[in-house]
Amino acid sequence: MKGVILAGGLGTRLYPLTYATNKHLLPIYDKPMIYYPIQTLVKAEIKEILVVVSGPHSGHFIHVLKNGKEFGVEHLEFAYQEKPDGGIADALAVAEDFADNKPITVILGDNTTDADISVPLKKFIDGAMVFLKKVPDPKRFGVPRFDPKDNSKIIEIIEKPKNPPSNYAVTGLYVYDNKVFDFIQKCDPSYIGRGELEITQVNNFYLKENKLHWAELNGYWLDAGTFDSLFLSNQYWAKKKNSKL
Ligand code: G1P
Repeated sequence: MKGVILAGGLGTRLYPLTYATNKHLLPIYDKPMIYYPIQTLVKAEIKEILVVVSGPHSGHFIHVLKNGKEFGVEHLEFAYQEKPDGGIADALAVAEDFADNKPITVILGDNTTDADISVPLKKFIDGAMVFLKKVPDPKRFGVPRFDPKDNSKIIEIIEKPKNPPSNYAVTGLYVYDNKVFDFIQKCDPSYIGRGELEITQVNNFYLKENKLHWAELNGYWLDAGTFDSLFLSNQYWAKKKNSKL
């Protein structure tokens, strides 16, 4: 399977750090943030990768990633999202040619995890798959509501809910079949009021067609889009590395 890393956006929640460079190039302990999602994909045998960039520091990526050889990437491509504030689904739209009508694994460039996703990926047939993780602060994520009669069934995903219907976050790790690009066309920028094309709306389109699968992410997971989560990620990866020394 091919992989797509979404590494655009303005990173406004991390101003003034992101005046200097793109969020996904900021350090997580001893590596630029984007190294982590690359490693997650390569560990799952995904070695054809598209990195979607946008915003004022787009040019910085190439100096850091080069041709991806040092990470075990066989083919590295870049694509440019014209609207840096267009949202995750808008960024994914530019991956359509790269996907070539086949399924793709998508990961947000600020998501770091040590989970191995190879097994659920092998089971993927069609539709979409989201990876869930129990979190203490679900309000800042997309959150699934489970069917009270069958708690293995998601009935809705709510983006940034005021009253979270569960303690799970929908992590920024997804698998989509080629229908994703049609669903993105149907997205509405006013969906939750931040004016972006929301990946949660895409996931809810799959849900309506009974085609949204989910798996629990086994391992550490955190995004690094806020000062607190960036700090916590740094702490985790520093500890993990030093405990192996
Ligand atoms: C985005 C998604 C959200 C998801 C999160 C994971 O949030 O919209 O559904 O739970 O990534 O990192 P954002 O970073 O845009 O606030």
